[in-house]
Amino acid sequence: MKRFRLCRRAIPVLLLLAIVLPARADNDVITDFPGADVNIGERLFLETRFSQYFFTNALGDANAVVPGDPIMATLQTTNGSVPGPFAGQAMNCRQCHIVDEVGYGPFGNHTLGNRTYADFARRSPIPARDDGQTITPRNSPTLVDAVLPRDTPLFLHHDGQFASAHDLIIATLTGRNYGWKPEEYATAVHHIATIIRDDDGMGYLAVDARDSRFRVLETFLGSYQNVFAGFNNYLGSYIFDPRGLTANLISPQYRLDMRYASDDEILETIASLIETYLKNLTFSQATNGVDFVGVGTPIFNGSPFDVFLIKNNLPQRPATNETFAQYSGRLLQMVTALPNPQFVTDPADGLFETHTQKFQFGQVELAGLKIFLTGKDSPRGNGQANVGNCVTCHSLPAFTDFIFHNTGATQAEYDTIHGLGSFNQVDVPGLAARQANHNAYLPPTPNHPYATGIFETVPTQAQPGQVDLGLWNVYENPDFPAPQPGLRQILPRLMGVTPPQIENAEMLSQQFVFSGAKGPPDGIYYILASENALLPTTNWTIIATNTFDPQGHFNFSTPVAPGTAQTFYKLSLQMPTPAKALPRTIALFKTPTLRDLAHSGPYLHTGRLDSFEDVIRFYQDFSVKARLGEVRNADPELREIFLDDGAILPLAAFLRSLNEDYTD
Ligand code: HEC
Ligand code: HEC
Repeated sequence: MKRFRLCRRAIPVLLLLAIVLPARADNDVITDFPGADVNIGERLFLETRFSQYFFTNALGDANAVVPGDPIMATLQTTNGSVPGPFAGQAMNCRQCHIVDEVGYGPFGNHTLGNRTYADFARRSPIPARDDGQTITPRNSPTLVDAVLPRDTPLFLHHDGQFASAHDLIIATLTGRNYGWKPEEYATAVHHIATIIRDDDGMGYLAVDARDSRFRVLETFLGSYQNVFAGFNNYLGSYIFDPRGLTANLISPQYRLDMRYASDDEILETIASLIETYLKNLTFSQATNGVDFVGVGTPIFNGSPFDVFLIKNNLPQRPATNETFAQYSGRLLQMVTALPNPQFVTDPADGLFETHTQKFQFGQVELAGLKIFLTGKDSPRGNGQANVGNCVTCHSLPAFTDFIFHNTGATQAEYDTIHGLGSFNQVDVPGLAARQANHNAYLPPTPNHPYATGIFETVPTQAQPGQVDLGLWNVYENPDFPAPQPGLRQILPRLMGVTPPQIENAEMLSQQFVFSGAKGPPDGIYYILASENALLPTTNWTIIATNTFDPQGHFNFSTPVAPGTAQTFYKLSLQMPTPAKALPRTIALFKTPTLRDLAHSGPYLHTGRLDSFEDVIRFYQDFSVKARLGEVRNADPELREIFLDDGAILPLAAFLRSLNEDYTD
């Protein structure tokens, strides 16, 4: 969708190209560096030779044609398997993150429909090795909006294992999804670099794939070596003058001279280019939204829901200085008070090409929106009985808060296999025991290639006790240092510690007095003081340690002698130690976006739910269980969901109104 091909800027270039270029289907050309990086990033995303299967079958020839990896012959769907779009080849990113291969656009085979860079499987099949692993532990998520700018640290994978797309890409290319075992990391790196060095640019991907999108001016020049060099002929001049002719070039910061580049430099550059491609995958936005390289604030406009907001002059995103919670509260008030809602109808306001549903937002969708936005503190208008509380975690406008919660998805799967209540019985070690025996409990990595990963496992009848605990695998795991600072930053939110409200602060006869509410009941807080408000908190002085009362109130006073320097005060909450926090990360998973869900089912990290209605019934069930105290480590917000059967139809209609025509 967000493939920017800027043709207007370069008319003389285009004329020249019209003569030189072999016919390109889309007949336009990428004239800017970011566009070129995205293009080569996509080629690398589709590259099938980085895999361990290719490595063992090509016998050192980077351009060999090998018999296809059997895993690529088919695609798994929830109804059996279909022919794979990359049959006859080896693993690539697109096998598990499909877009239009089996769908609508010009490249699809018009069978199963488009995807938003997810696949059709509950869990994705991986290349066979002798380790018994056959599928990914989790459902493949959409990649559209996955690296959207946000006000929280970036976490990738359902469990937040990665803090950057860069690290994720390197780990994926050299990891089990590509057939590599953890102990083969060094071999993988060298093999991948060798493909880039030795590629002759004559393969199907470089020449013909996707309507020759990756072909360069003269086919024989399309080797990675040339592209990565920016067509430098190594004698100091470009094969083509890049000032006049920038088709398919590469940004200067990514140029590599293959005569000198190390394996690591090559891998780093591949990761940067694929990352540029990922940043470019966004849902439809206004032009002043996120730009090409992912900078800016998204103003979504592609779904019937977005069109409804636009038609009714409703705010499409939080105002400056407004929190997501305040924005959704305001939006709920505004939609409840709409005197005369302007509905979205098909075809007057739009129509879908990639969905069979109508492009509409009417009464039913509006009712669903209200349930979605209603939370525990919302005013209940018109006897509204249903409280979705969905927006607390699926914050608008991206429909995710980008952090982690336990909705009960892991427990639902485990208990289905091992019996009701069995997840509560799973023996999970504490921090000290876990750190003392890394291999017994934590996932395998190149540092610990023989670790069992029993808590990052698809549960099966045969292996009681093996389950997927999500964030628990990552939190304070020394093999995953990158996400730890971000996790520390969001820890108060993960622990459900919301900042207490200061209700009163005043000077009373040479005493500074302040009081408030909504602290954690009986929780500990510190009062910090500083004469300089700008100093980092760690440099403030702790002047008192107190506890909130059982209702979460606090009250503090300190004498202030007349004439002393101005002092600033801060209230700071005591956070649980890592040992205390670890059990509370059990079964937490990252909140996914809800945009265009019809293109990314089945749902949840388990891939067990097939329809929106199934997911809503799951929330009905688990909110009741959470109130009964039957959900292990339930998110407190789960208890605040109240849905009767009348909520299913409108909520599902609302989720459908978030669909859009996502095409490549
Ligand atoms: C064999 C299937 C498979 C292949 C191949 C694969 N992925 Fe994934 N991808 C997944 C699965 C499954 C997840 C979820 C992983 C998890 O949470 O543990 C995922 C997660 C991701 C995410 C995180 C999204 C988010 O919102 O957290 C990104 C980004 C991603 N993949 C990019 C890639 C790239 C780039 C490649 C190629 C280098 C690739 N994937 C190859 C299956 C695959
Ligand atoms: C406490 C936070 C929270 C609340 C409240 C919440 N969700 Fe979720 N939602 C999540 C998380 C986290 C996941 C991923 C769970 C997993 O895969 O383990 C999720 C997953 C989903 C999915 C599946 C998406 C996918 O791509 O797999 C849908 C649909 C969904 N939620 C809709 C809703 C609706 C509708 C409501 C309100 C009734 C709601 N959620 C309330 C946090 C929440």
